[in-house]
Amino acid sequence: MATVDGSIKNQPAKHQEVGHKSLLQSDALYQYILETSVYPREHAAMKELREVTAKHPWNIMSTPADEGQFLNMLLKLINAKNTMEIGVYTGYSLLSTALALPEDGKILALDINRENYEIGLPIIEMAGVAHKIDFREGPALPLLDQMIQDDKFHGSFDFIFVDADKDNYLNYHKRLIDLIKVGGVIGYDNTLWNGSLVAPVDAPLRKYVRYYRDFMLELNKALAVDPRIEICQLPVGDGITICRRIS
Ligand SMILES: C[S@@+](CC[C@H](N)C(=O)[O-])C[C@H]1O[C@@H](n2cnc3c(N)ncnc32)[C@H](O)[C@@H]1O
Repeated sequence: MATVDGSIKNQPAKHQEVGHKSLLQSDALYQYILETSVYPREHAAMKELREVTAKHPWNIMSTPADEGQFLNMLLKLINAKNTMEIGVYTGYSLLSTALALPEDGKILALDINRENYEIGLPIIEMAGVAHKIDFREGPALPLLDQMIQDDKFHGSFDFIFVDADKDNYLNYHKRLIDLIKVGGVIGYDNTLWNGSLVAPVDAPLRKYVRYYRDFMLELNKALAVDPRIEICQLPVGDGITICRRIS
C-alpha cells in the first residue's frame, strides 16, 4: 500500500539520509542527486555536522543536504550579507548560510533551544565562521516584535530563513515583511509539509503532520496573494517557498 510520502508500506526507503523529506516520487532519483551532485561537493564541516546530527534523536528536524546546498547557492546568488535564521537545531542550515556569507556577513540565529545548537557549535567554530553568528536563545516572535519597534531594523535584512514553529509562520510573515529589505528574500521551509497538503482527509497522517497541515495550507494561500512579494515554491527538501519582497 502506498503511503502519503509515496513509499511502499513495510518496504523501507533504500538510502540512509535521515533528513530525507524529499517529495521526489523516486527514492532512487533522490539518492542519485545526493551521490552525484550533493555529497561530493559538500563542505567537510557540513558533512561532519550532518553525521553528528544523524545520531541525535530529533535528527528528522535537520535540513537535508540538498536543501543545504540550495540555500548556500541562493545566498551567494543574491550577495546576502545581513541574514536571519529562525529555527537552528544543530545548525546545518546555519552553517550552510555562514559558509556562503562574506567574512563580514552576519546571521541573527534564533532558537528556543541552545543545547542543540551547542552540538554543532564546535564544528561551526572549526569551520572558521562562528564569528558571523549571533545566536539568541528564546522564542522568536517577541524578539521580532522588539525589532519592529526600532526603525533601524526595518528593511535591514538581505535574507531570512524560517524553519521553526510552523503554526506561527503567518505571524512571522507579518513582521518579517518589514524587516526584509525590498529585493531581499524570505525562505519559508516545509511548505509542502510531507506531501500531506494534498492527502485525502482519511489518510493515515501522523498527529503532528495533521496538526500543522492546516497552518501550511493557510500560509500558502496567503503568500500566493500577497502583493508585497513575488514567490516561487520549490519541491526541494520538504518544500521551500522563496519570497522576494517587491514593495
Ligand atoms: C526544524 S528545526 C530547525 C532545523 C534547522 N534549520 C537545521 O538545519 O537543522 C526547528 C527548530 O525550531 C526551534 N523552535 C521551535 N519553536 C521556536 C520558537 N518559537 N522560536 C524559535 N525557535 C523555535 C526548535 O527548537 C528547533 O530547533
